[in-house]
Amino acid sequence: VKAIKPARVAELDAADPLAHKRAAFELPAGVVYLDGNSLGALPKGVAARLHKATIEEWGQGLIRSWNDAHWYPAPQRVGAQIARLIGAKAHEVIACDSTSVNLYKVLWAACQGSGNLIITEADNFPTDVYLCQSIAANLGKTLRAVPGAEIAKAVRTAGADLACLMLTQVHYKTGQLHDMAALTQLAQAHGGRVVWDLAHSAGIMPLQVHALNVDYAVGCTYKYLNGGPGAPAYVYVHERHILDLQQPLYGWHGHAAPFAFSEHYQAHAGIEKMLVGTASQLSLLALEEALKVYDDVDLTQVRNKSLSLTQLFIDLLDQALPEFTLITPREPALRGSQVALSYPDPKQGYAIMQALIEHGVIGDFRAPNILRFGFAPLYLSHQDVVQAVAIFTTIMREEIYRAPRFQAQKAVT
Ligand SMILES: Cc1ncc(COP(=O)(O)O)c(C=O)c1O
Repeated sequence: VKAIKPARVAELDAADPLAHKRAAFELPAGVVYLDGNSLGALPKGVAARLHKATIEEWGQGLIRSWNDAHWYPAPQRVGAQIARLIGAKAHEVIACDSTSVNLYKVLWAACQGSGNLIITEADNFPTDVYLCQSIAANLGKTLRAVPGAEIAKAVRTAGADLACLMLTQVHYKTGQLHDMAALTQLAQAHGGRVVWDLAHSAGIMPLQVHALNVDYAVGCTYKYLNGGPGAPAYVYVHERHILDLQQPLYGWHGHAAPFAFSEHYQAHAGIEKMLVGTASQLSLLALEEALKVYDDVDLTQVRNKSLSLTQLFIDLLDQALPEFTLITPREPALRGSQVALSYPDPKQGYAIMQALIEHGVIGDFRAPNILRFGFAPLYLSHQDVVQAVAIFTTIMREEIYRAPRFQAQKAVT
């Protein structure tokens, strides 16, 4: 393995067109934050926006703020901000509910045809699998959960019986990236619809859901989009489906005229039909402010930097910590923006991550044996990667992780 020279790392940071973005975030001193794939960092403008939203808009404006502070149309406004990031048209995306709830709506819509089979990846994120199970049970469909490498074959085998292919574009554990274009085309060629979960891909690479003719997509905003804990999710529906689409959760905000207070549900003609009830308004306003960080960002530059950071991490690990097994693909085109490792002794993985966190390198652990490191290109440098691997190496070589305090498992891993 070729040694990586410090001068090379300094050159990479000096040539980084996104280096100035770090100043847009509040980050604690002495921390290398490698968990932006789980909870993004706090953008600097958010606290002031929330202060205004609470003290002025809520405190003084009271109920008037739904109109006067333009609270009511925030789901559409934020949807338009997200649309730019995922390659959709503004009227195809709306911010609302959680990813799980939005999945229920679009899976239900996707499964209204005569096809019987729902196909997903066997170790997709649990909520995705559970929602597929729920839809299969409620609509009398059959769920087939297959390993990632067998998805294309399963779609071909399903043939005209395919109702829907539901996938997460970047796998939450391995960080592997699916070929959205090829799999969308394949499923649609068999008469099925596709639902993509963009939780681990929005904000780290250019996406083109509209141009790829994707039927439906969902995603969360608290990861790379930095919306804050439990921030509202979003849902995308290709414009060709919007008018005819029905979703199962009839709520007043999805009504054509919510303030007519009519006894009968009549769905809105636009993407607003995906709304259900009143938005989590403060979270939504925080998200709107957080997304401004992306206003002037070129997602191709983000993708290039993401691959440069993950490649450096992999190269340094190969040199310093060869005892770990790389779970994430080495091939850059097959990676998202995270690197997953496993350790030969499965009992120590959690303790190693706890020791890393205590020493300022924050990643996370996913049972049964995966250490995950996410690389958010807007606030990390190549020097951060070097520092993280140096600390990681000390923890392993000095066996710091063996201390009893690192062994006790917390509720959130
Ligand atoms: C792929 C994927 N989908 C969905 C979720 C979470 O969904 P929700 O926001 O509804 O909890 C996660 C959370 O990490 C995820 O990784």
